[in-house]
Amino acid sequence: MIERIQKIQQEVEAYVFDENQKAESFRLAYLSKKGLITTLFDEFKSCSVEEKKSVGSVLNQLKRLAEEKYQTQKEVEETQQEVQGSGEDRSLPVYQFPEGSLHPLRIVEDRLLEIFYSLGFDVSEGPEIEDDYHNFGALNFAEDHPARDMQDTFFIAEHVLRTHTSSVQIREMEKGKLPLRLVMPGRVYRNEAVSARSNCFFHQIEGLYIDKGVSFADLKQTLYYFVQQFFGEGTKVRFRSSYFPFTEPSAEMDIWAGTDTEENRRLTKGTGWLEVLGCGMVHPNVLKSCNIDPEEYTGFAFGMGIDRITMLKYGITDIRDFFINDVRMLKQFSGV
Ligand code: DAH
Repeated sequence: MIERIQKIQQEVEAYVFDENQKAESFRLAYLSKKGLITTLFDEFKSCSVEEKKSVGSVLNQLKRLAEEKYQTQKEVEETQQEVQGSGEDRSLPVYQFPEGSLHPLRIVEDRLLEIFYSLGFDVSEGPEIEDDYHNFGALNFAEDHPARDMQDTFFIAEHVLRTHTSSVQIREMEKGKLPLRLVMPGRVYRNEAVSARSNCFFHQIEGLYIDKGVSFADLKQTLYYFVQQFFGEGTKVRFRSSYFPFTEPSAEMDIWAGTDTEENRRLTKGTGWLEVLGCGMVHPNVLKSCNIDPEEYTGFAFGMGIDRITMLKYGITDIRDFFINDVRMLKQFSGV
């Protein structure tokens, strides 16, 4: 019996399906009630106990093989039928779906986050609709102080559209967990005349580091590292003293673009220096408004425009190009 099983096994293995030998013919020949394998099983019942031992597993193996072969072919035939029914032509070349691409602002923001992550900063975000307190009051803008005019504000009833991401500093400090080392990206709004250089909304990234003993030297070193990473090793920077209500002392940081090209002279108004961000040591009044003791803790903060540095990085001359959503423009950018 064992030889017959082996012979059928070889037959099954060699069985080739075609137009005349479909799954159903295979089933009839081997697996149906009168099929060869079923007949072997009938015979098996009358074998001696000894014989059963040696034949049993070989026979079962044969049955499994035949069933698998039948099942696979049946599925193939079913799919063929479906395809024919649907009128689909599977021999046609595959349709290439157009690939998406990241928006240049997203590419730059991701890169900024990557650089600050590498310095141990975490990321956090706050609301775009703010109250006067978080956008101004807690940041040491005095009531009726002209400093509020520095930023033309959109008002919504009792609220404002945040004019800067500095409001997120307050939200984070209020949580009462120190030390803090955060970058906070997001969209901000200002009621400015729309032009190639300014839009009524744009993007900023805010940085904040509060701990015991944080100094201006830490601020400079952090920003210096950022510039080397983002704009390239050897990029020259300078700090100019400045004024912001929420920092004391305050500074603005410029990077050296040079005056060698027409474009650089235009961008830097002939000076060669490009302003990239505002920064400073967090004002004691700001710490106090968040219940942080300025005698115990100090910190630095900085804020920069993401749109602006993206324009610099890619030589984009009109900020509105970011938001018109012309896919031909938006598809051109790759990682920095
Ligand atoms: N919030 C300022 C602006 O929008 C930028 C800024 C300046 C942020 C100094 C800071 C800072 O954190 O320390 O013009």
